[in-house]
Amino acid sequence: MAQTFETVGVVGLGTMGAGIAEVFARSGRRVIGVEADDAALERGRGHLERSTGRAVAKGKLTEDAQREILGRVTLTTSRADLADADLVIEAIPEIMEFKRVLFADLDRVCKPSAVLATNTSSLSVTAIAAGTSRPGRVIGMHFFNPAPVMKLVEVIHTVVTDDGLADDIAALARSLGKTPITAGDRAGFVVNRLLLGYLNHACALLEAGVAGRDDIDAAMKLGVGLPMGPFTLLDLIGLDTSYEVCEVLFRETRDRRHAPAPVLRELVTAGLLGRKTGRGFYSYGEAAPATPEARQAASVSTVGIVGGGPEAATLATAVERAGFKPVVAESADLTPVGDADVVLALSDRPVVELAVRLPHPERLAGLHLVGDEVAEVASTVLTSPETTAAVHDLVQILDRTPVMCGDRAEFVVNALLYAYLNDAVRMLESGYASAGDIDTGMRLGCGYPAGPLEMLDAIGLEAVRDGLRALYAEYREPAFAPVPLLDQLVTAGVRSIREYAG
Ligand SMILES: NC(=O)c1ccc[n+]([C@@H]2O[C@H](COP(=O)([O-])OP(=O)(O)OC[C@H]3O[C@@H](n4cnc5c(N)ncnc54)[C@H](O)[C@@H]3O)[C@@H](O)[C@H]2O)c1
Repeated sequence: MAQTFETVGVVGLGTMGAGIAEVFARSGRRVIGVEADDAALERGRGHLERSTGRAVAKGKLTEDAQREILGRVTLTTSRADLADADLVIEAIPEIMEFKRVLFADLDRVCKPSAVLATNTSSLSVTAIAAGTSRPGRVIGMHFFNPAPVMKLVEVIHTVVTDDGLADDIAALARSLGKTPITAGDRAGFVVNRLLLGYLNHACALLEAGVAGRDDIDAAMKLGVGLPMGPFTLLDLIGLDTSYEVCEVLFRETRDRRHAPAPVLRELVTAGLLGRKTGRGFYSYGEAAPATPEARQAASVSTVGIVGGGPEAATLATAVERAGFKPVVAESADLTPVGDADVVLALSDRPVVELAVRLPHPERLAGLHLVGDEVAEVASTVLTSPETTAAVHDLVQILDRTPVMCGDRAEFVVNALLYAYLNDAVRMLESGYASAGDIDTGMRLGCGYPAGPLEMLDAIGLEAVRDGLRALYAEYREPAFAPVPLLDQLVTAGVRSIREYAG
């Protein structure tokens, strides 16, 4: 029969530990919260009282229920009080030496049957377990922030974890109202491995000057429907933490995609760690700069559109409705748009090769419509600043958010998105996690509207494979080359990677 873990110890009552203690107390279990000293203990008590207090204020919890929950939690600075605990979860800072020392001590204090779990985001659970006399009873139980809200728990087993223990911990997570995914001990586990690769890639695009901070954030938030853009998220996670997790990933994978971007190192060294220090990629506490009003793209009367099909027709109608005269070049013959004031090349590929075929190459910019809200505007090395400004305004008049970027393969959205989807396929192909767990992990761990394999199916395997080929051809980054599994599924005519993976 699965163990039920009636008494649970939580060591470290900071951001994560206080939330984890609350989750267990809410489930009716007895909780022993341990902090380093009295001052930290009081801070931990404050976290618990404020968090449950907010639930009362929102009408989600009665005052009686709050009293009961808090009454189940005993707070102490003595680890000896953990002697009776069935399970102890560690949530102290992400420093291996601290964790090793703590686990050696817990091993001494706790009863032999007790399970010792770590909430580490990135450190090796195996290395933590190896420092105890009970490595088979040491496991990862990775909650997400804020623990009372986020539904995902990653259960991490090692090569020496006792048979059945991961299942028991997964059952425990379910009994807390969480959704567990179980995986082996690899740097970053499922969620952070996929997430940090993508966030670090956004830093690389910023550093290469392909697009600016706000444009990249808008692209991913409005274009893909993610809860926030990568730089907002990095600031929220903390740039120091993000840097460290990338370091750990890189040490294991030796994949340049995980090598922390230099801009992260620079910001961290300067003490700009994100929200918690008031400044990171963004500054907090300052009024946001006003969004400039869309000017009427004043000097423009004729708008050339290069492209065919319904997208070009819809764009031509919208341009006309906005008071401009559209002219369309549907075929390889660009003559119809030769004299237009600006030329929009509908494309998700670099457009400079079209520009050089025009009498006024400085009047052309690439336009990639993403979803219903965003249009990427790609300026080539020949595009004039006046054209870039006019197209920016025109896009706003057409009721879309312009994402200004350089004329690079896959521009911004698809460059970031497809590389991330490729990483997910690589993870699936390696056998590290199932398709269901990968999708569940990103949906519940990051609040994404869909998992990466769901997104891949929705976009189409072939489109993503072709996009990755273009990315690889442009940047020669090995991580962008389509994973063999993806290539083979396309060749074999398989349309759904989730159906294929069962
Ligand atoms: N913050 C997140 O978003 C997040 C998400 C998932 C996992 N994690 C992981 O959870 C762990 C804790 O992170 P956090 O953000 O809650 O950190 P935190 O700094 O907010 O909290 C750490 C707490 O541990 C206490 N502490 C330090 N040494 C101790 C000791 N020897 N005994 C008892 N208490 C001690 C500190 O006083 C502090 O209250 C880390 O391993 C982190 O990687 C963090």
